[in-house]
Amino acid sequence: MSAVTGIENISTILVIGAGTMGRQIAMSAALAGYSTIIQDISADGLTAARTELEGWAASRVAKGKLEQGVADAALEKLGYSTDLDTAAATADFVIEAATERLDIKTSIFEKLGVLAPAHAILATNSSTLGSSKVADATGRPAQVCNMHFFNPALVMKCVEVVRHEATSDSTVETTMELARRLGKEPVLINREVPGFIANRLMGAIQREALFLADQGIASIEDIDTTARTALGHPMGPFALMDMVGLDVIDFIAQATHAETGADEDAPNPRVASLVAEGKLGRKSGVGFYDYS
Ligand code: CAA
Repeated sequence: MSAVTGIENISTILVIGAGTMGRQIAMSAALAGYSTIIQDISADGLTAARTELEGWAASRVAKGKLEQGVADAALEKLGYSTDLDTAAATADFVIEAATERLDIKTSIFEKLGVLAPAHAILATNSSTLGSSKVADATGRPAQVCNMHFFNPALVMKCVEVVRHEATSDSTVETTMELARRLGKEPVLINREVPGFIANRLMGAIQREALFLADQGIASIEDIDTTARTALGHPMGPFALMDMVGLDVIDFIAQATHAETGADEDAPNPRVASLVAEGKLGRKSGVGFYDYS
């Protein structure tokens, strides 16, 4: 097995998936000076990512929060590709942020094991699938871990670095250091556990919030207000679920429940029925709140 790349040897980062998470993770890497490729099978997805990131950079510059030169340099560092084979061949570090499906992720990691340089670290941004599930497919399990960012990834400081049984120390160290260089405050999770740290904490708050609302004890507005004004949370649990996406919240609950079987992890019927009605939160215009 070849030695893992140290942080000083990382110059090109490949982010797989141009969705909500992937595009902002890629911009964080580009802002930190890394040549960054966003790869997605959808050309439209890549165009949407480019439009959002250029718009984000322009509005930061307009607000005086980013120098024009820094924005231009970061945008120049970003490449967009539908071709995984070519993109993977140049990557020193891969962050996979594709659809949360094991079959899709396994096939990506299998390809990466063949296509990415032998020294490359292969990380997944998954919040529900521990990297042990895809590690063996790569043929280099010691170089595989979770590197889990939070939404919005350009803003949130936390990155959960999760090792599985075979992840090497050098993979962990390089991944933690890369997160720091991206301006993040990484935390290390020594053993895979459903939900890692943040989603377990968030799930507990959401469960209580849904209980209070389902029992008619308080309105969702007042529960959200309490989280903000009594606990100092930047947004209440219902507003947060709408931001993350109710489909994502429901999926996390299903995946966690499938692993733990614990009653408290079971998907909430109210969230499930909103999802069934196509009310997914901010991205669909309606969730717990109406954004139209
Ligand atoms: N993308 C990029 N930047 C954004 C943004 C977005 N979607 N939304 C807000 N921002 C930026 C704004 O530009 C602004 O930047 P400046 O202050 O430098 O100008 C800053 O964030 C604050 O934004 P606002 O003033 O508009 O609003 P706010 O103060 O309410 O902050 C927030 C917005 C950052 C989203 C804040 O409400 C917050 O931290 N909410 C909690 C978010 C959270 O808990 N995320 C974790 C979700 S769970 C998850 O991601 C894990 C998973 O596996 C599902």
